[in-house]
Amino acid sequence: MKNIVILISGRGSNMQAIVNAAVPNANIAAVLSNDENAAGLAWAAECGIQTDSLNHKNFANRLDFDRAMMEKIDAYQPDLVVLAGFMRILTPEFCRHYENRLINIHPSLLPSFTGLHTHQRAIEAGCRLAGCTIHFVTAELDCGPVIAQGAVPVFDNDTADTLAARVLKVEHTLFPQAVADFVAGRLKIEGNRVLNTERQPENVQLLN
Ligand code: GRF
Repeated sequence: MKNIVILISGRGSNMQAIVNAAVPNANIAAVLSNDENAAGLAWAAECGIQTDSLNHKNFANRLDFDRAMMEKIDAYQPDLVVLAGFMRILTPEFCRHYENRLINIHPSLLPSFTGLHTHQRAIEAGCRLAGCTIHFVTAELDCGPVIAQGAVPVFDNDTADTLAARVLKVEHTLFPQAVADFVAGRLKIEGNRVLNTERQPENVQLLN
């Protein structure tokens, strides 16, 4: 059994998708947040999952918060830490500590549109495709080895919200699959690439 700790900051729909997927050999050990009012925490608690929070505003700097969070996370002896809408920039120390066992979902087709407001920026850039990326986390923001990507079309009348909703549906299938691939030991990091020989075709989703 692999222990998984999921970090969220808000509604936690990706976290819910991962929990609901009931990935074989995965134990969702805890759901943690930087916001005690994150809606996803209440949902996880109702499912009987351990929850806890640490308010980043109570810390003098980013590193102090990350160290306190690491202590909380490590109490669950995680094999994998999943950032599912965790809206904090992480220190290099945090990223190094969980090297090769820390994954994130980002709502763009990386390496395009790192950072925030990805859907609005994709529309303004005239992209005909948008999507999401699951990747291992390294110290450089939104830049680690890519595990899986899903793409959706951008329609002429799209707003950031309609595009986000289309991408979110893909997130909810791709993220549990990536967690399952990690837990099953199917992911092999080679430089900036992640090889997944057993499930190659399903790594990329093109939806209409
Ligand atoms: C998702 O779109 C994710 O890609 C981004 O933040 C959003 C979180 O949504 N990082 P949720 O909390 O999982 O519903």
